[in-house]
Amino acid sequence: MGIDPVVSARSENPDPRIVAASESSIAQAAELLAQGKLVAIPTETVYGLAANAWDADAVRKIFQAKNRPATNPLIVHVASVERLADAIASPVDPSIAEQMSVVAGFWPGPLTVVCARGPNIPDIVTAGRSTVAVRIPSHPVVRALLSKCPFPVAAPSANPSNYVSATTARHVADGFRPGADGGASVELILDGGPCQFGVESTIISARAKGPVLLRPGGITAEELRRKFAAIGCSLSIGSDDKEEKSAKLAPGMMKLHYSPNTRLVLLHQAHDCPAGMRVGRIAFRAIDDRQASMYATVAVLSETGDLREVAQHLFSALRRFDGLSLDEIHCDVCEPTGLGAAIMDRLTRAASTS
Ligand code: TXA
Ligand code: MG
Repeated sequence: MGIDPVVSARSENPDPRIVAASESSIAQAAELLAQGKLVAIPTETVYGLAANAWDADAVRKIFQAKNRPATNPLIVHVASVERLADAIASPVDPSIAEQMSVVAGFWPGPLTVVCARGPNIPDIVTAGRSTVAVRIPSHPVVRALLSKCPFPVAAPSANPSNYVSATTARHVADGFRPGADGGASVELILDGGPCQFGVESTIISARAKGPVLLRPGGITAEELRRKFAAIGCSLSIGSDDKEEKSAKLAPGMMKLHYSPNTRLVLLHQAHDCPAGMRVGRIAFRAIDDRQASMYATVAVLSETGDLREVAQHLFSALRRFDGLSLDEIHCDVCEPTGLGAAIMDRLTRAASTS
């Protein structure tokens, strides 16, 4: 494959598919994508498993590798507002055009918009829907990559379906092992360091009746509401649209998602660690020694309870604890407002048993 072995030479990181992002590895990733291959990419939210969005055969490999149901549509990534036309149809409704200009104000960044699908996007990307989800990410590595690609890039989160999303290159490698069915098709994992946000992008749907929040994420509902209010639009939460409802039934928005294999308990009330059990505690701020001593292991995501730090480290902590053969993982909760809405959305799904 001719991968520059900078990182693979390090003994703690023997997976040859992980390559530090550099001008040459980014060029190589663009070349692999052009050939219809899969590449894992860093973004500011979580790592993505990328393919050329115009190439149905390439996109099919994403579904195979992730074991993702064909009914769950993908997000398409483009380099700039000028390149949106590679993925979406230009809005005919003036209200949607206005909503798109608000969305563009958050780009590049962790906001995805569902809008009318362009003619070059194959059915497999959108699971046959008339809409497509699109975003312009801000991570410098994915920006450099997208600007080298003459096509838009489809990329769901780079985790096997229903498992916790990946926020480091190592997480991606762990989820797609070479030799395993899906793992074999991930050719290159571009290492752009740990993700800055740590939770997936916010998803809204731009509709003639007004914008709808479909998934809380890195951009808060409060920020969106303020910007939409300035153009006289109010942001609704959740969708009553038939197509979007059926997208909601897809695993990406189903209850059981992002789940570790170990039972996850959310600490809505003060809770002592059950005696005789090996429990890992995920704390959102520093806890005292008496408390800490009850647990087999403790991860403090932020000394001060800063939700940006909590979001950034949450998936890493869930993954690490999941590898420790614990009986349970106990995790703090927060108010579901601001970034807390995305954190609680992911935790509630991860803790759900149905
Ligand atoms: O931050 C992110 O959004 C990451 C990075 C890699 O960009 N991507 C990500 O993709 O989280 P994924 O596939 O894990 O989640 C995308 C969600 C899914 O729940 C899917 O159902 C929804 O977006 N979606 C995609 N296209 C849609 C559409 N046309 N209508 C409604 N929902 C859609
Ligand atoms: Mg996902």
